[in-house]
Amino acid sequence: MAFPVPFQLLIVLIGLLLTCGPSLALDRVACQAATPDPLTGCPSGTLLVGPDSSGASFSSVQSAILSIPNDTTPYTILILPGTYTEQLNVTRRGPLTLLGQTDVPTNQSSNSVAIAWAAVAGTGDNAYTSTLTVAPTLNASLTGAGPDGNPVPPGTPFGCTDFRAYNIDFVNDYAPYSDDPSLAISISYANSGFYYCGFYSYQDTIYIGKLGNAYIYSSTIAGQTDFLYGFGTLWVQSSLLSLRSCGGGITAWKGTNTTFENMYGVYIHDSAVLPENATVAEEQVGQCALGRPWNAQDRSLFAHTYLSAEIRASGYIPWEGADRINFNTTMAEYKTYGPGFNFTGRMDAGIEFNTTQGPLTEHPILTEEEYVTGGYSSLETVFQDEKGTFGCTSWIDRTPWL
Ligand SMILES: *[C@@H]1O[C@H](CO)[C@@H](O)[C@H](O)[C@H]1NC(C)=O
Ligand SMILES: *[C@@H]1O[C@H](CO)[C@@H](O)[C@H](O)[C@H]1NC(C)=O
Ligand SMILES: *[C@@H]1O[C@H](CO)[C@@H](O)[C@H](O)[C@H]1NC(C)=O
Ligand SMILES: *[C@@H]1O[C@H](CO)[C@@H](O)[C@H](O)[C@H]1NC(C)=O
Ligand SMILES: *[C@@H]1O[C@H](CO)[C@@H](O)[C@H](O)[C@H]1NC(C)=O
Ligand SMILES: *[C@@H]1O[C@H](CO)[C@@H](O)[C@H](O)[C@H]1NC(C)=O
Ligand SMILES: *[C@@H]1O[C@H](CO)[C@@H](O)[C@H](O)[C@H]1NC(C)=O
Ligand SMILES: *[C@@H]1O[C@H](CO)[C@@H](O)[C@H](O)[C@H]1NC(C)=O
Ligand SMILES: *[C@@H]1O[C@H](CO)[C@@H](O)[C@H](O)[C@H]1NC(C)=O
Repeated sequence: MAFPVPFQLLIVLIGLLLTCGPSLALDRVACQAATPDPLTGCPSGTLLVGPDSSGASFSSVQSAILSIPNDTTPYTILILPGTYTEQLNVTRRGPLTLLGQTDVPTNQSSNSVAIAWAAVAGTGDNAYTSTLTVAPTLNASLTGAGPDGNPVPPGTPFGCTDFRAYNIDFVNDYAPYSDDPSLAISISYANSGFYYCGFYSYQDTIYIGKLGNAYIYSSTIAGQTDFLYGFGTLWVQSSLLSLRSCGGGITAWKGTNTTFENMYGVYIHDSAVLPENATVAEEQVGQCALGRPWNAQDRSLFAHTYLSAEIRASGYIPWEGADRINFNTTMAEYKTYGPGFNFTGRMDAGIEFNTTQGPLTEHPILTEEEYVTGGYSSLETVFQDEKGTFGCTSWIDRTPWL
């Protein structure tokens, strides 16, 4: 009788290790500081990427990524200042951390490393456009079409269990306006954390695909149309959503029917929505939507977030030409504030959407009870592993300022 309990614990631990392994301890600040030997303070085995003139072992980030084995050993890549024009694809299963060199490791606006690409979807899948892709296979990253998107082949393994980026800007500057999907990041079948990062595009800047988990902290996300979209789970914490114009909505999510209860959706907390500059501020007052439903099971929430005057009175909008709002559609707000919050406008819009359906769309503003019991208030009640177990958060850095 001495064995069963520890044995069960072991099984549980092995289960958690599959996709939600133990958190990494990493003194990133020492590694990121500019020093005569750039690798001073870095974990042993850290790979160095820099411009040709720097003498670094790798002159592109993707060549460093490709040199890493597909095993479960954690790897770190330190990137010297510069703009790297390339697409990054991370398929490995084990932890990978990308660090941008900086002496200001807690301020995105001082970042000196950018990864830039310029591509638009056109007739191809959105996946091909992304500056950074974290997914085990191309198929896992494809968007596809219809209410449930690309059918990822059954048995596709989970990809990176713990991808992190600190102080890096991801740019897709195909066109200086919303032309068609141009992704900055694309995360599917993977867990990913971004700290003090920038994300710059105009349309579909951030894609969190199937079984994708993403946590974005103290970062800047710039876009115009549907610039947070996907099937997975995204939590944006203490960040800036920078409006480059208005189109579609800020969020556009597709829910999925699973055998277990899921919380797939986009959750924006303690953040600010602001115009990118004075021109946008002048031209777009009352024009931008918080979001629109990519399918009827859309789940989107802005909580404790400042909304500038560009946000329209209704907050969210329906998807033009499609009947995609029903009682399972969650287009919510909780304690949003600022000139973009218009209580009367929100109430009017909820009724305008559809008088015959949906308590949530008629009352898009959550009560405290709905906020808490709905599971919206903590990372543990939002993030799940691929089997649906909640509390899959060990890949999140809770103290990124250290
Ligand atoms: C990485 O290893 C896992 C586990 O062995 C495997 O399922 C997966 O197909 C491999 N991925 C790549 C890109 O080789
Ligand atoms: C980051 O730096 C910018 C420019 O130096 C400054 O305006 C801003 O307040 C800083 N942000 C934080 C969060 O410290
Ligand atoms: C990355 O994957 C995309 C497809 O998502 C592909 O088009 C591109 O060629 C890949 N790039 C590299 C460097 O592997
Ligand atoms: C994706 O998987 C489907 C189903 O297995 C297959 O028909 C398709 O060819 C795959 N696509 C790619 C790009 O591998
Ligand atoms: C303001 O931002 C918009 C959107 O990015 C850009 O098109 C425009 O050129 C910017 N205007 C100024 C004056 O910087
Ligand atoms: C989920 O199931 C409901 C009820 O069967 C159906 O109406 C809805 O279209 C399904 N949604 C997706 C995304 O498959
Ligand atoms: C709404 O969600 C419930 C489960 O949460 C599901 O049983 C039902 O089929 C869904 N209805 C539609 C129309 O999607
Ligand atoms: C708020 O919304 C109402 C109803 O849509 C509208 O009449 C009013 O002008 C709006 N107020 C502001 C300050 O935009
Ligand atoms: C409201 O929902 C009903 C039932 O699904 C649908 O027939 C009707 O078209 C919807 N109305 C609007 C304005 O979306």
